[in-house]
Formats: sequence, C-alpha cells, structure tokens
Amino acid sequence: MTIGRLNHVGIATPSIEKSIALYRDLLGATKIHEPFDLPPQGVRVCFVDTPNSQIELIEPYGENSPIHAFLAKNPAGGQHHVCFEVADIHAAKADMEAKGAKVLGEPRIGAHGTPVIFVHPRDMGGVLVELMETPKGDGH
Ligand code: CO
Repeated sequence: MTIGRLNHVGIATPSIEKSIALYRDLLGATKIHEPFDLPPQGVRVCFVDTPNSQIELIEPYGENSPIHAFLAKNPAGGQHHVCFEVADIHAAKADMEAKGAKVLGEPRIGAHGTPVIFVHPRDMGGVLVELMETPKGDGH
C-alpha cells in the first residue's frame, strides 16, 4: 500500500458541543456538520471542515466506548488519531500485518461510510493511525 490523503484528525472530547464552540468561535470554523451516533464504534461524531481536511470530534457513546479510557487519561480531551486514505482496506491490512504491525480488529464501516482499520500506536511511534478506504466517486 501507499499512504494517501490525510482524511481527518480525530480529537476526543468530553463534549462535542463545547468543542464545536471552540472550533467555531476561537478558530473561525464555518462548516460544521451535524453530530451523529456511531453505536458499533461507541462514539458520537461531528466533522468540522477545514480547507484541506477535516477534524473529527469524537465523544463517548455508551458505557463500553473506547473513548472513556482516553478521557480518563486526558480529561480535557485531546488528539486521538490521524486518518489516512488508502485505495483498498483489505490490501492495506494485509500489508500492515506482513510488515509486523498490529491491526486492531477487522475492517469495519467508519464514520464516512467506508471501511476502516486502526493500526496499534505501539507500531506507529505512539500515534493511533486509522486507515480508511477512499470513498468511491469522491472528487479529491
Ligand atoms: Co477517525
């Protein structure tokens, strides 16, 4: 695989509403999408558009949300993951594993409606990396 476009930066937050206010009022973001729940991943999500990418605000959804542990360590929230596009998620997973990196779980449908995987931060210099199949027909 080869690394593609930076699709988004994931930011964990205890309150999407408060984070929206920061991006809007402090940084001047004007294109803020409607928040939505992603129960299979245990998150509530809100995308904030920037001229060349997106910020993905993620708040815990449900008791088993993986975000609870992150917020226990980072109560104010913080940078959680970065997401790069790849052409083929299954090829990317096989390539990561062939190179010895741990992929967390099987490909599943992410917040953009295309399959994603996560690469363990231990194998990526401490950064949780999401790989996301490029949306078909996307005009980038
Ligand atoms: Co993400």
